[in-house]
Amino acid sequence: MSKLIITGGKQLEGTITVSGAKNAVLPIIAASLLCAEPIRLEDAPDLLDVNIMNQVISALGAKVVRKGSTLEIQASSIDCIEAPYELVSQMRASIVTMGPVLARQGHVRISHPGGCAIGSRPINWHLKGLEALGADVRMDHGFLDVTAKELKGARIYLDYPSVGATENIMMAAVLAQGTTLIENAAQEPEIVDLATFINEMGGKVRGAGTSIIHIEGVQELHGTTHTVIPDRIEAGSYMLMAAATGGNVLVQNVIADHLKPLIAKMEESGIDISEEGDGIRVIGDGNYTAVDIKTQVHPGFPTDLQAPFMAFLTRAKGTGLITETVFENRFMHVDELKRMRAEIKIEGRSAVVQGIQRLNGAPVTATDLRAGAALILAALTAEGTSEIRGIQHIDRGYEKVEEKLSRIGGNIIRSE
Ligand code: UD1
Repeated sequence: MSKLIITGGKQLEGTITVSGAKNAVLPIIAASLLCAEPIRLEDAPDLLDVNIMNQVISALGAKVVRKGSTLEIQASSIDCIEAPYELVSQMRASIVTMGPVLARQGHVRISHPGGCAIGSRPINWHLKGLEALGADVRMDHGFLDVTAKELKGARIYLDYPSVGATENIMMAAVLAQGTTLIENAAQEPEIVDLATFINEMGGKVRGAGTSIIHIEGVQELHGTTHTVIPDRIEAGSYMLMAAATGGNVLVQNVIADHLKPLIAKMEESGIDISEEGDGIRVIGDGNYTAVDIKTQVHPGFPTDLQAPFMAFLTRAKGTGLITETVFENRFMHVDELKRMRAEIKIEGRSAVVQGIQRLNGAPVTATDLRAGAALILAALTAEGTSEIRGIQHIDRGYEKVEEKLSRIGGNIIRSE
């Protein structure tokens, strides 16, 4: 079984380049199904999740070719309306193919994605939105069967600004008749990137990045070329690793605005951060103080950086409080960090992290993607060698992680 072997204690130094955003490219690949003409996506990271999404849209009838970091996609026709269970069960995010296939074909069947390691993760708001646009939703032997003779624009208030629900509804509404208003929409940068892509194909989406999104339905879309935004979570993970090792790293290909909540918290803890061109320089001296964070929807502190931030706090001076408000069960990394001697107590949806001088390297297992990033950070700072298993989770979202980190001095190798 593959594992990452990391010997801690080296300060990271140099320049690391961030890839295109996983969470932006996944819905954008799905949105390519809205259009019969060729689509070219640049800066599409080569990740396990992206490969799964490519397989899902291929199974539905699209042609996908990867050339380096570019994806060429063409969905001249959609020959099949059923997303295969084997693929959907591997990646929840395949649920965002529901909106575009429904919009294009008037019918979609997709297996119910079920829960995952970080919570039960229902999709009730996705379905409520599609129903408001006129779809009929049925559960059929574990599959969701969604049909619509015609989708009609509607005013949809989301009870919570869900990222996936906003994306699915936006994509379904693009080809609907009339205007759709999504109120209390998610405002994440990935939503803005999806709207930009849809508009580049000739769609009419306004307001993405605010809480109210207007979508005026159009008859059809045309082909385009789109460059995916940089991955703010990958960037943030490397920023935290640089700081925790007391290093000096330029994290390149970053939109600093997307990282404001992290930058604010790292600065509060005493890390020196400055913008340099399209990068962010992080300088740590190994001494920083604990701070509190609370995860929230954008522009609050992102839940996807909660686990790496917790690993960062394990060696801060003092005690930090982490409160997770987005997912119900996102503390799976705590027990693994504790195996490395971290002092963390969970109290309900909060974790109290008492900083210590040095973690101990240990064999640990990544239970999910961001837990994996937390363990890499911990291992890079720990005394001795750690072996991280479960790295298929890390490969879902961090492109060439060992290559990138070794180039800036990390002592990390992959062993098959
Ligand atoms: C996306 C991101 C994920 C990130 C999350 C929050 C992708 C592929 N994944 O996930 O990395 O952690 O946003 O920023 O982009 N919920 C419901 N009913 C619904 C939908 C959501 O109860 O119909 C709940 C979820 O269980 C969760 C919360 O709402 O507790 C937030 O979920 P959501 O914003 O939808 O996250 P995802 O789109 O799944």
